[in-house]
Amino acid sequence: MARYLVTGGCGFIGSHLVERLLAAGHEVRVLDDLSTGKRENLPDGVPVTLGDVADAAAVEAAMRGVDGCFHLAAVASVDRSREAWLETHHANLSGTIAVFDAARRARSGGPVPVVYASSAAVYGDNPDMPLTEDAATRPLSAYGADKLGCELHARVADGVHGVPTTGFRFFNVFGPRQDPKSPYSGVISIFAGRIVKGQPITINGDGEQVRDFVYVKDLVRYLTAAMDKPQAGAPVYNVCTGIPTSVNRLAEVLADISGRPLDRSYGPGRPGDIRVSIGDPSRLVAAFGMACEVSLEDGLRETLAWL
Ligand code: NAD
Ligand code: UD1
Repeated sequence: MARYLVTGGCGFIGSHLVERLLAAGHEVRVLDDLSTGKRENLPDGVPVTLGDVADAAAVEAAMRGVDGCFHLAAVASVDRSREAWLETHHANLSGTIAVFDAARRARSGGPVPVVYASSAAVYGDNPDMPLTEDAATRPLSAYGADKLGCELHARVADGVHGVPTTGFRFFNVFGPRQDPKSPYSGVISIFAGRIVKGQPITINGDGEQVRDFVYVKDLVRYLTAAMDKPQAGAPVYNVCTGIPTSVNRLAEVLADISGRPLDRSYGPGRPGDIRVSIGDPSRLVAAFGMACEVSLEDGLRETLAWL
């Protein structure tokens, strides 16, 4: 049994991670500002400290005495990072530095390992599909630039301060508890929430932009596996399937599976939107001995069942 801090644990991915850690018998505490997360995403009894991950004192207090930290707190919306550049920078990059900094001193036995969320957004407009971890990073958004900053500071955390870190470049994650009501949420939750109610959806641009969708329960297995075996050298891994799906196709599959008519219109393209994002999972599979297993269709069925 270990004791872990999960930042952003009340959010979509964080709540699935907390569930998995509790099921394995670990003790979990959460730091979250509830800006997008919800207390009810977690079972009763999980201690939640309400605080900002960029507040060094709050992070230090939350991390005291833990065996490891999963750092997921961030403003996950690319669009929001365009509207609120400096504000999202505080959460997304300063917050990560606050976590690495606190990890240096969190326990008497030495620095605690940190497993953190990076993003496929670091690749930006790199056209070399599928993207391996060695592909050039060319972020298009403030969000992607800050996630790349997290990876650079992870190297400092490891090399200068001895904090073991593992970063995961999540591609497009989906599943139950991804908020269907927020315009800043992921495309699957927005489309699913509207299609089941018979409401119209808006496709940004021509809908031929492509994403690599990963089911959340597949993803959290890698986070716990990385914590079990901290590595030196601040490694980063793609978390992806390698399977491309266009936004048009996604809308059609969702309408098909839910048995509802598809009412779609096309709006302007989103500034800073990536055109094609497909990852190469080879390094992930080699390092952890497991691939993502849940198909898009099965994951969509579980997501629709939750709504
Ligand atoms: P989410 O919005 O559901 O979760 C983020 C959580 O962090 C929320 O509970 C929110 O309240 C909290 N939070 C935000 N700012 C905070 C702050 N300043 N202080 C404390 N808590 C704060 O989003 P998610 O999809 O679960 O994303 C989790 C992580 O994964 C984020 O780091 C995100 O950038 C990353 N990520 C997500 C995806 C995806 O497709 N969902 C893909 C790549 C990376
Ligand atoms: C998503 C994640 C981001 C992550 C990145 C990794 C969210 C909110 N964003 O960004 O955290 O780092 O994947 O690849 O989880 N779209 C529409 N109509 C809509 C909503 C979206 O057409 O109503 C389109 C977008 O313009 C985009 C695609 O769907 O082309 C995906 O959008 P979104 O779900 O916001 O994801 P990303 O921007 O890829």
